[in-house]
Amino acid sequence: MKATAEAHPNIAFIKYWGNRNQILRIPANGSLSMNLDSLFTRTTVTFDPNLTTDGLRLNHVPAGGSALSRVSDLLERVRRLANIDTRAEVISENNFPTGSGIASSASAFAALALAASAAAGLNLSEKQLSILARTGSGSAARSVPGGFVEWKPGNSHSSSYAYSIAPPEHWDLADLIAVVSTEHKVTGSTSGHAIADSSPLQAARVDDAPRRLAACRQALLDRDFEKFAEVVELDSNIMHAVMQTSTPPLIYWQPATIAVMHAVRAWRKAGLPVCYTIDAGPNVHILTLKPEHSKVKRLLQEIPGVQDILRAFPGGPAKLIYQEALNV
Ligand code: PMV
Repeated sequence: MKATAEAHPNIAFIKYWGNRNQILRIPANGSLSMNLDSLFTRTTVTFDPNLTTDGLRLNHVPAGGSALSRVSDLLERVRRLANIDTRAEVISENNFPTGSGIASSASAFAALALAASAAAGLNLSEKQLSILARTGSGSAARSVPGGFVEWKPGNSHSSSYAYSIAPPEHWDLADLIAVVSTEHKVTGSTSGHAIADSSPLQAARVDDAPRRLAACRQALLDRDFEKFAEVVELDSNIMHAVMQTSTPPLIYWQPATIAVMHAVRAWRKAGLPVCYTIDAGPNVHILTLKPEHSKVKRLLQEIPGVQDILRAFPGGPAKLIYQEALNV
């Protein structure tokens, strides 16, 4: 009972921040994202009757604590669905730096949901997998379907899931990730979601979210970069305004983060199709069109504090790459 799956992380154009139900990760608002093709998590799950506890190796290092208990919670859901009691060994690797604004938890829990359910002999639908992945990390719900993905907030466990609104080929976008720090973030998103409501700005952010989401969806479907850029930057700025006004305040930006934000706005004013968006970390995702990405990369390399630049185009869905024949 063994399976291996791969999933891409995603970058949210309209962000998820704050939960209506913290345990089930039912979000306060809907969100919209793109999978990132060149980045991935590869996860192998083996259910083994000889094991007495679940085990986890993350990027070649044995992991315990909260990382293991989050993985074990998802495995427990899979065991209940498959009606088994067997413990599992999970081996997971990322091909990108963990915990610094590149959403490793999204690809990690999407790959885990697929590998664990396949290893347990379940054949879950995309919707069921998205729901399962969501319980490990909210944004993982969006790494299950391919291309451009919307996560419908829903109001219950079974109604909160993500689905594709356009395939990867729909729009030639590029995401250049300006890495300004690879240190592990101080406050992870799970703790961040829990204090979102302590910001007096969160209610206004959530109230206006359906309008921003509709504007972003339309700009994306119309391939209208100008409209897209305005709403994507607005949405990122609003989320960071909430983060910065929470108790305690979460300030993820570093000086180089702000330098990149200013530069991107100046380039757009000068006519380049380019905009920024930032997750719960200091690194900046610079969105542009594929034909312009080499030029934008060269410009980014000149900004002091930019240590590295990762590049991704729209990516496909989570996929199973190995499944051992079940001897049942
Ligand atoms: O899935 P989580 O708990 O890592 O939350 C993700 C939160 C943001 O990355 C900041 C926004 C988003 O929608 O991806």
